[in-house]
Amino acid sequence: MLERSPVLAVPGEVGTARRHDSAPKHVSGEATYIDDIVAPAGLLHACLGLADRAHANIVALDLDRVRAAPGVVLVLTADDIPGANDVTPVTGHHDEPVFATDKVTFHGQPLFAVVARTRDAARRAARLAEAIYVDLPPVLDVAAARTAGAGYVTAGMTLTRGDAPAALAAAPRRIKGRVTIGGQDHFYLEGQVALAIPGEDGDVLVHASTQHPTEVQHMVARVLGVPFGAVTVEVRRMGGGFGGKETQGNLFAAVAALAATKLCRPVKIRPDRDDDMIATGKRHDFVIDYEIGHDDEGRILAVEATYAARCGHSADLSGPVTDRALFHADNCYFIPDVHLSSEPWRTNTVSNTAFRGFGAPQGMVGAERFIDEIAYATGRDPLDIRLLNLYGQGGAGDVRSITPYHQTVEDNIAPELIAELERRSQYRARRAAIRAWNAQSRVLKRGIALTPVKFGMSFTATQYNQAGALVHVYTDGSVQLNHAGTEMGQGLHVKVAQVVAGALGIGIDAVAITATSTGKVPNTSATAASSGSDLNGMAALDACETIKARLAAFAAGHWGVDPAAVAFLPGRVRVGTEEVAFADLVCAAYGARVQLSATGFYRTPKIHWDRTSGRGHPFYYFAYGAACAEVVVDTLTGEYRVERADILHDVGRSLNPAVDRGQIEGGFIQGMGWLTTEELWWDGQGRLRTHAPATYKIPVASDRPRVFNVDLFEGENRENTIGRSKGVGEPPLMLGISVLHALSDAVASVADHSLCPRLDTPATPERVLFAVQALRERAGP
Ligand code: MTE
Ligand code: MOS
Repeated sequence: MLERSPVLAVPGEVGTARRHDSAPKHVSGEATYIDDIVAPAGLLHACLGLADRAHANIVALDLDRVRAAPGVVLVLTADDIPGANDVTPVTGHHDEPVFATDKVTFHGQPLFAVVARTRDAARRAARLAEAIYVDLPPVLDVAAARTAGAGYVTAGMTLTRGDAPAALAAAPRRIKGRVTIGGQDHFYLEGQVALAIPGEDGDVLVHASTQHPTEVQHMVARVLGVPFGAVTVEVRRMGGGFGGKETQGNLFAAVAALAATKLCRPVKIRPDRDDDMIATGKRHDFVIDYEIGHDDEGRILAVEATYAARCGHSADLSGPVTDRALFHADNCYFIPDVHLSSEPWRTNTVSNTAFRGFGAPQGMVGAERFIDEIAYATGRDPLDIRLLNLYGQGGAGDVRSITPYHQTVEDNIAPELIAELERRSQYRARRAAIRAWNAQSRVLKRGIALTPVKFGMSFTATQYNQAGALVHVYTDGSVQLNHAGTEMGQGLHVKVAQVVAGALGIGIDAVAITATSTGKVPNTSATAASSGSDLNGMAALDACETIKARLAAFAAGHWGVDPAAVAFLPGRVRVGTEEVAFADLVCAAYGARVQLSATGFYRTPKIHWDRTSGRGHPFYYFAYGAACAEVVVDTLTGEYRVERADILHDVGRSLNPAVDRGQIEGGFIQGMGWLTTEELWWDGQGRLRTHAPATYKIPVASDRPRVFNVDLFEGENRENTIGRSKGVGEPPLMLGISVLHALSDAVASVADHSLCPRLDTPATPERVLFAVQALRERAGP
């Protein structure tokens, strides 16, 4: 007979504004990051030795002084690698060695690693290497790569629809231009770090700060020359990833594992901030050259554009990043005849990588520049040009809804969303007031802009759109949850726990969130492309449904009711006319030998993509948003301040409004930082000179907009996603583009809005000042 506990109703979970599960631990310092794991006995510390040339042949590498340094236990070079000296993340390339051997291809490339008793000893020893180089001419940026014919790191892509050259030739008006867009350092608070613990029979456990535990597993196995099954990778949380830990953690994990297995001792590697910034990839900087054809009203007729990216010395993710730039070259706008091509240039700089938005932000900055060009050419409000060019509604025969990649936009809510934000932000009235204010303010000038976002959701490499989960129910009714996704601060774990709690009808406190482990859920994708909750929420739900079906079948038999009469309600299970506590049902089911653990699986439906023909349906759906920013610029110094930002962002039906708002606010600020103050600067020898917060300026609390209104757009995903929600991780970053355009609007006021300021990014105060001066000169006295 069943034990009976009191039946308590718990509130529904999905859609509740729960705080991040680790929020108090983040702020109190109790959250365990890898460097906080209690040091295992015998722990040793590794440090990389980095090349101080951008491009050179290595004639000799003398490591005797390194070996002789105090505390040094081992020095590792390519010769010590039992497997392959290769941590290239993408198939078809072998261009990313762990340690360079005869050639250095960027300044900061690892040459060797030193393992010592303390981290300090390892760092000191690493500086004692003596390398003899024969310098080769370095190719440092897109312009130099073009001149030198440096070639691509991977094949470029072309998207074509219609006949762009003919449409340009026939267009009543044409504009040619260029926009240069800077890169960005991830500046995660927790840097790269890995701790490897050797096991038996060559096994190794690696705690890695990575968005992609499975890839780290593969890379470690490749370097050690062992099967994947010998390597377990675990990550409880990252202190930020932002794309910078999609592939960039591979090398650190491989080095730690190599040292640990050689020495049969635990080894940790944690580069300092400067080495981290010098030796790991960043957001790609782009040069976009465009020609736009439009009519007198401002309707886009044709666009021809090239998207050249500085990719660095190896392919890494530059292929999919530059592809995604093209996929977002349209942003929310229909381009009737279009020809877009990407140029992923090879340079002697660190290999650029994923960064929140994954190329889309750069593509979108291009699209918004097209709009500004047309607005200044026609003398119209840029918002009117935006509205005029929005995609249609995707109904049968609606040609104005077809993207350059031939997917039809079927969920276009941009018109409603923009209209709503226009109203809430009082854009029109404020724009008029700003014009009047500027007319009587000689030095300070204000600017305002409202820009939209449309972001395609799914990995464009179709196979990555899958996820697994593992759910254990214990006999007291508590649950352990494991899934393929990693936690980097974005709140994925709390969202998936809410899904599980909601599905089982239990309180969220009964769901234990555990570290992501390749030993529990195998063959995972990177937590990336904003797909974490879409994929893992569904996989976890699938596991819960399996367990519920077993419990329902048991309950039906036990109480003699139809399985359909068993319902999992918040806090209790209804069985026919009775209600029982979940824990009691579970305990009874265990007694009847019912399996209480299940795996779950999900793959995104409807998507396909053929890169060669440039046609397909790469995105399951689109997420939308819009932001209206107002700035004030000091035209004598170029300094500026963001006075106000109003945001309306589409997350479908929110799984967790509190977490989603956090993503929107953080994304906007990070996007604003990218386009304003964050400047990467390499000198003529290819040395990154902005490798610490003293010289690289991310936004700080005082840079936030004085007035910051953030709202979720009411609605639900038209596709059948988890809870009808939408991914939210990356799209809000592109809301920051509104700040760039507000700055541009303020700058334009010095020439009476007659000329397009063509403000490049990052729009640092210097660059804003130069733009003001250039515009004054162009406008004449
Ligand atoms: N939010 C925080 N706090 N920290 C991060 O590192 N990474 C971003 C975004 N939001 C990130 C973040 C990036 S690049 C991606 S792809 C998504 O989170 C990944 O998580 P999701 O798929 O669960 O949204
Ligand atoms: Mo995010 S750039 O897809 O890790």
